[in-house]
Amino acid sequence: MKHLIDPMDLSVEEIDELLDLADDIIANPKKYESVCAHKKLATLFFEPSTRTRLSFEAAMMELGGNVLGFSSADSSSATKGESVADTVKVVSCYADIIAMRHPKEGAPCLAAMKSDVPIINAGDGGHNHPTQTLTDLLTIRREKGRLDNMIIGCCGDLKFGRTVHSLIKAMSRYSNVHFIMISPEELEIPDYIKEEVFEQGDMSYEQVRTIDEVIDRLDVLYMTRVQRERFFNEADYVRLKDTYILNMKKLKKANKDLSILHPLPRVNEISVEVDDDPRACYFRQALNGKYVRMALILKMLRDVKGE
Ligand code: CP
Repeated sequence: MKHLIDPMDLSVEEIDELLDLADDIIANPKKYESVCAHKKLATLFFEPSTRTRLSFEAAMMELGGNVLGFSSADSSSATKGESVADTVKVVSCYADIIAMRHPKEGAPCLAAMKSDVPIINAGDGGHNHPTQTLTDLLTIRREKGRLDNMIIGCCGDLKFGRTVHSLIKAMSRYSNVHFIMISPEELEIPDYIKEEVFEQGDMSYEQVRTIDEVIDRLDVLYMTRVQRERFFNEADYVRLKDTYILNMKKLKKANKDLSILHPLPRVNEISVEVDDDPRACYFRQALNGKYVRMALILKMLRDVKGE
């Protein structure tokens, strides 16, 4: 059985197939409105979410299927001490496919070993967020018309930001992509990403401390929030949280066709004045998340049936 735990679980061909399917769903929604009739998606969210959980649920509903699940560990039997393994074993009796978010890195991987139905990692700690990556890839492809030959700036909390880790891994499959990592020293990308992805692959990268020094070179600027929930102490969070604030003044030097992405939620790192600039893609990106999750649910259920 195929699960989606890490963006590298998908080949380039599978990613292209999913993005093509998402484009077709956007163009022809009626064609897909009952393709998952009588199927059930369980959303097991042990950690808060707005976009990922609700877009998964909207996706399944728009495919004609049903949803069940919980939105916090507090409303599940995890509070009574039930293990992730037991939870998933039981929920796979009730649902055909499971999307799971958990604060512990590796929890969805453990779940996949125990589950009788496909598991989708909807975010595990500071590790991976593969469906956000599919959302980001669909957005970049729809905005720029390509996934190769580009310079991508990632800005903010690159240490704890799992969406950045997953995006870097996925983009390592495409040619002539250069990453510029913009962060304070304490929030640089983890060594394992530098060693396993950048240094072993063909993709180049550089690290800088300010947006200003690189903004005129970027095709894509991927902003992220400082991940308060993963800090060990509040003082460090308060010191670092407003390091980067993108505003119209900073955008003066940017390319006319820059695409500004953000996985959201945003805190302070993009001023609301930027929202009206056509280069701001982040709300279109959130909508793309629903379509790419529709494509993913459909493909994974078809794979189970051997279609
Ligand atoms: N982008 C993202 O994962 O948002 P949520 O935490 O609201 O799901």
